[in-house]
Amino acid sequence: MTLQAQLEALRDNTLKEIAQVATLKELNQIRVETLGKKGPITEVLRGMKNLSPEERPVVGGCANEIRDLLTEAIEARKVVLENEALNAALKEESLDVTLPGKQMPQGTRHILTQVMEEIEDIFLGMGYQVVEGYEVESDHYNFERMNLPKDHPARDMQDTFYISDEMLIRTHTSPVQARTMEKHDFSKGALRMISPGKVFRRDTDDATHSHQFHQIEGLVVDKNVTMGDLKGTLEVMMKKMFGEDRKIRLRPSYFPFTEPSVEVDVSCFKCGGAGCNVCKHTGWIEILGAGMVHPDVLQMSGIDPTEYSGFAFGLGPDRVAMLRYGVNDIRNFYQNDLRFLNQFKVKE
Ligand code: PHE
Repeated sequence: MTLQAQLEALRDNTLKEIAQVATLKELNQIRVETLGKKGPITEVLRGMKNLSPEERPVVGGCANEIRDLLTEAIEARKVVLENEALNAALKEESLDVTLPGKQMPQGTRHILTQVMEEIEDIFLGMGYQVVEGYEVESDHYNFERMNLPKDHPARDMQDTFYISDEMLIRTHTSPVQARTMEKHDFSKGALRMISPGKVFRRDTDDATHSHQFHQIEGLVVDKNVTMGDLKGTLEVMMKKMFGEDRKIRLRPSYFPFTEPSVEVDVSCFKCGGAGCNVCKHTGWIEILGAGMVHPDVLQMSGIDPTEYSGFAFGLGPDRVAMLRYGVNDIRNFYQNDLRFLNQFKVKE
């Protein structure tokens, strides 16, 4: 067999092998064996010096041609095999995006937070500012500045947890009144604020009492503020909270920091006043305490009571939520039972 015929046989065999090879590793092996330094083609080219001058260009040309052809065939096969490997990997690792996803449990704002934010919105709409007070408060602001000196009998209704003789956790949001009044600059206009937050009392926990609950304090101070302003303001709030048909009624009451003081009732939102279980068959629901800011309270905060007057109110959002949603035990709000809380899920 001539050298040329041997090369052509090598070419045909190798092309067949390349076509059949299934892995990149085997393909590489073929490349090394045929085209490598110890392969038959290199060998032929090396042995050229032993050929006659006539044979040299023929055999050399043939060897070069076959080397180029095989190199190309191997490269082409390599591309095919690499693609196949990639497709196989993609298939293996692919995700089925049509499968149902994992549901992430989503929380919601606490029902009391929702109610308080709703009330904040009502007052923001009437030009009030929302002020935050301190849960740890001094005896001075919690009691003295609210006209409850050390020996005042009304302190008994608001016993609390003491941190020291002078520091306590506040029994109501009213100390925010004093803190806001003493800072207010009346040259910039009237004082209108609400202050929502937690309060604490030494109460025995039962269905309607909890040692921790919430209040929203309201305070307006300006020249010529009257009881009529108080009544009108509360009426707007109650209509927004319990429906346009609501009426309110004021009854005389007592708070050391307001004079006169009133207890405010709203006509029952469930029966409209006819009498039902929500209003205990009276047609009215007691909803908050209020009154005209006591002159001494103004005075203690550096405001001249002969020039300025004001009204204040204290509302319990826990009670609002209980009434509105028919919750019969205040403790439900504080037990973090998701079966309870999830009933008040809102779409954020
Ligand atoms: N601070 C009073 C309470 O906790 C409520 C109140 C606030 C009454 C403002 C009148 C004016 O009972």
